[in-house]
Amino acid sequence: PPVDSMLLVNDFEDWAEKVLSGTAWNYYKSAADREITAAENQDAFKRYYFRPRILHDVTNGSINTEFVGMKTNLPVFISPAAMAKLGHPLGEVNLTKGAGKCGIVQGISINASCSLDEIMAAREKGQQVMFQIYLNKDRKASEALLHKVTELGASAIIFTVDTAWRSKRTRDVRAKVAVAPPPSSDGQEKSKAPLGVSQAISGYQDTNLTWSDIGFIRKHTNLPIIVKGIQSMEDAELCAEHGVEGIILSNHGGRQCDFAPAPIDLLYEMRINKPELFNKLDIMMDGGVRSGADVVKALALGAKAVGLGRSFLYANGTHGEDGVIRLCEILAEEIQNTMRNIGANNITDLKPELVGPAGPWVY
Ligand code: FNR
Repeated sequence: PPVDSMLLVNDFEDWAEKVLSGTAWNYYKSAADREITAAENQDAFKRYYFRPRILHDVTNGSINTEFVGMKTNLPVFISPAAMAKLGHPLGEVNLTKGAGKCGIVQGISINASCSLDEIMAAREKGQQVMFQIYLNKDRKASEALLHKVTELGASAIIFTVDTAWRSKRTRDVRAKVAVAPPPSSDGQEKSKAPLGVSQAISGYQDTNLTWSDIGFIRKHTNLPIIVKGIQSMEDAELCAEHGVEGIILSNHGGRQCDFAPAPIDLLYEMRINKPELFNKLDIMMDGGVRSGADVVKALALGAKAVGLGRSFLYANGTHGEDGVIRLCEILAEEIQNTMRNIGANNITDLKPELVGPAGPWVY
């Protein structure tokens, strides 16, 4: 269908299910165990409603903002996700070009299917990207990679910490994809179940990650560090103590720990119990974001920007670069409409008072 007929974020998912290969669909859609958290990430947004304010002049305003020193035309970034080529032959390069045209920041996965050089070369002049790393058991390899991405001009390092151990990605495994396991032994006891895509690409990852690894990354790059995969207030606080510039509240789109909390709930919990944390580092979130209204709720609760993972893979898979651009347009329009309808012209007008728990209320 023509890209302009896509009106909602999830329209891309509906088409992706019809047109993607079984391997791509099952890998993208997949989540851990019974997929409870993957569903809850989206459902939790329905527990927060706006408290719109009226009789404000909403004629002019903007949705531009900044997070971790990066400028963006809308408060949305592309969460790093592996294997964009499964959905479209041009892979991550489509995401880079689309992000460049829309003025948003792309997170590049260490497991991207295009080479880092190809992706970096696809950037427009001045286009900012973040590089996501999993630490390798061979720290020398990680060290070399940190130096390379720093030299190539990334604007931040995303250190993903929620995948120290594997998970059972049920659909991906059921698809029984014939992907060869990596040659080197990964120290993890091999599952008897057939490999899905996720296990086939993760063999180099270290199962021994500690807080001292933040110091390791700091030593090998001068870029800001964003820790991704924070699932508790306590770890958010520890991140602030370790001096990182940003965190992404995330459960990997429900792909790791089934029954990890929905990031929007964690954000609300932190807003109530640890408001001071929001001044110590930039807090972002991803997981279950499927509309501009979802984005605005997270921003009102204190998120500096919000990531989408699957939706960008689906948009790339169904329409390539045009899909990526259309997804940004949909989000931009919905964000702007929602903001003006609750009386907020600019991102700085979004305050916690504009969001509250959903009713019904019993008085
Ligand atoms: C991911 N995610 C992910 N995260 C990361 O840090 N490195 C990676 O390589 C990947 N790979 C990946 C592949 C696929 C297919 C998916 C769906 C996800 C997690 C991703 O960054 C993000 O946290 C979630 O996708 C957010 O949830 P939504 O937006 O998909 O609901």
